[in-house]
Amino acid sequence: MEIKITVLPGDGIGPEVTSEAVRVLEAVAERFSHELRLTTEKIGGVAIDEFNDPLPAHTLAACLNSQAVLLGAVGHPAFDNHPTHLRPEAGLLKIRNALGAYANLRPARLFTALMEASPLKANVIDGTDMLIVRELLGGLYFSQPRGAEGDSALNTMRYSVPEIERIARVAFDLARKRRRKVTSVDKSNVLEVSRLWRETVINIAKDYPDVTLEHQLVDACAMALVARPASFDVILTENMFGDILSDEAGAVVGSLGLLASASTGGPVGLYEPVHGSAPDIAGRGIANPLGAILSTAMMLRYSFNLDTEAASIEAAVEQTLAAGHRTRDLAAAGEPSLSTTEMGQRIIERLT
Ligand code: IPM
Ligand code: MN
Repeated sequence: MEIKITVLPGDGIGPEVTSEAVRVLEAVAERFSHELRLTTEKIGGVAIDEFNDPLPAHTLAACLNSQAVLLGAVGHPAFDNHPTHLRPEAGLLKIRNALGAYANLRPARLFTALMEASPLKANVIDGTDMLIVRELLGGLYFSQPRGAEGDSALNTMRYSVPEIERIARVAFDLARKRRRKVTSVDKSNVLEVSRLWRETVINIAKDYPDVTLEHQLVDACAMALVARPASFDVILTENMFGDILSDEAGAVVGSLGLLASASTGGPVGLYEPVHGSAPDIAGRGIANPLGAILSTAMMLRYSFNLDTEAASIEAAVEQTLAAGHRTRDLAAAGEPSLSTTEMGQRIIERLT
């Protein structure tokens, strides 16, 4: 089949990890006889540099004209003092919104070979396999902000019942394909919007009597994530809480560099590693490409229904790690490690 995607490498380590992900995609397309059609465009800081716009109209048009988007990362400290609309992150929020990608799926599973890479004890992390379902188009990220006026600034956390309902359904539907447990995370002891969240999730849960629903306050959840990570199946939460908890989940399973994500719900899916642009290590060829590579597996599965192809990438990653190959973020202190492209190559060699 034809696989028509737009690639947005973005900033920092984005281009390095994305080019490995694209190489893997090309290898999979060849192996399974698919026709891969790629268009590459700019987003984030590099787009501001060239077009004075973090999401130029032609970039968005290319995305809307493809079946899926693969994104690297956005962000650079050079833009720290820029106004909100001229920051790299504005491009990312805008494209998520323009694609209607309200459901951000962030799986965090422990690869057995990476027991030692986690800062937690083996008996604590054993069996960790969770899916964070993060609402992506609401909450503090999409409020009506007010930049500093005098001595105050403002963002508001807002959610409507339909916005909560649609993301809750995604979480429950996915839980049915997993271990049938949803942990809804909020701050309902303090926030009105969280009380609406909890009430709405409880209502939706009535349609899923076969799925167990529990509620956790976000602070307690942050603790439980490191104290008993294996107790989670699907975590359902709002935008900002999901952002924070997914970085934490990355550390639990060994490295944020491993985490992939799919942002779905609209006509064109958006796939990106959970990590950021990591300007401190950009251009050195040491970034971990596995989050980006695993994001292409999610793309093949969710946007193209190509389960076998997706599984082939995931199996190659699993085998490569089992064979002891490590990028710097995963290697023990003093141990040798692979470069970004070497890791990409190891994956390609193991595709079946
Ligand atoms: C993420 C990132 C983004 C977010 C930033 C870069 C806007 O941290 O995808 O987790 O906060 O959503
Ligand atoms: Mn984040």
